[in-house]
Amino acid sequence: PKQGPLAGRSALVTSGPTHEPIDPVRYIANRSSGKQGHAIAMALAALGARVTLVSGPTRLPDPDGVETIHVERAEEMMQACRDSLPVDVAVFAAAVADWRVISTPAAKIKKQDGAPPPALELAENPDILKTVSGLATDRPALVVGFAAETGDAVEKAVAKRKRKGCDWIVANDVSDGTGTFGGDENAVHLITDAGADAWPRSTKQDVARMLAQRIATYFESESD
Ligand code: PMT
Repeated sequence: PKQGPLAGRSALVTSGPTHEPIDPVRYIANRSSGKQGHAIAMALAALGARVTLVSGPTRLPDPDGVETIHVERAEEMMQACRDSLPVDVAVFAAAVADWRVISTPAAKIKKQDGAPPPALELAENPDILKTVSGLATDRPALVVGFAAETGDAVEKAVAKRKRKGCDWIVANDVSDGTGTFGGDENAVHLITDAGADAWPRSTKQDVARMLAQRIATYFESESD
């Protein structure tokens, strides 16, 4: 059996981008590399938690000691998360596409001389964080979201925490030049009921370790 402050606890982590198909060869995506989410899964496992990682397409290896489920689309990520419940804590670090293409033809869309470019009609994807935060049964005791913002990150993240119904939110500034999407470092604020804590710019591994430690502290004080 695993040892550490999170031994006996279970965790769900989402990581990476989603790919929303346009046709069999094209998709809509974003710049998430999965580094932050994967690091969080590893940090929770290192503290003894039983971890399920639901990952969109990344170039990263599956972390040791973590059950990794691979998905492509947001709807698949939603289903995999549902199938992984119940857990004690869920951390949603994936950059889920907000929209998907409504109808995806079975054949590649052909470029035709003189024809106008195709128009893509989009539909809203399920909001995994909001859905899990609002579950009547099987809601994790602690739900942690991320907020990727460009400018006024804390203010926007405080509002996002309310809107999504999660317990904590990790706000990161992903403005041009910060290199947060895809890079090796992150500068975040942890937003809880008690307010916003600014953490020093650190490697994504260190951000993950600090977050896992905070989660362990939460469960320790809960079981007092
Ligand atoms: O993967 P890396 O290159 O290491 O980069 C890390 C990161 C910047 C992607 C990560 O730290 C991060 O901020 N992830 C959340 C990105 C995001 O899509 O943020 P958002 O503000 O759009 O979404 C808010 C929250 O809702 C997030 O927890 C997101 O996972 C969740 N969400 C959003 C949409 C949706 N349909 N379902 C969701 O669960």
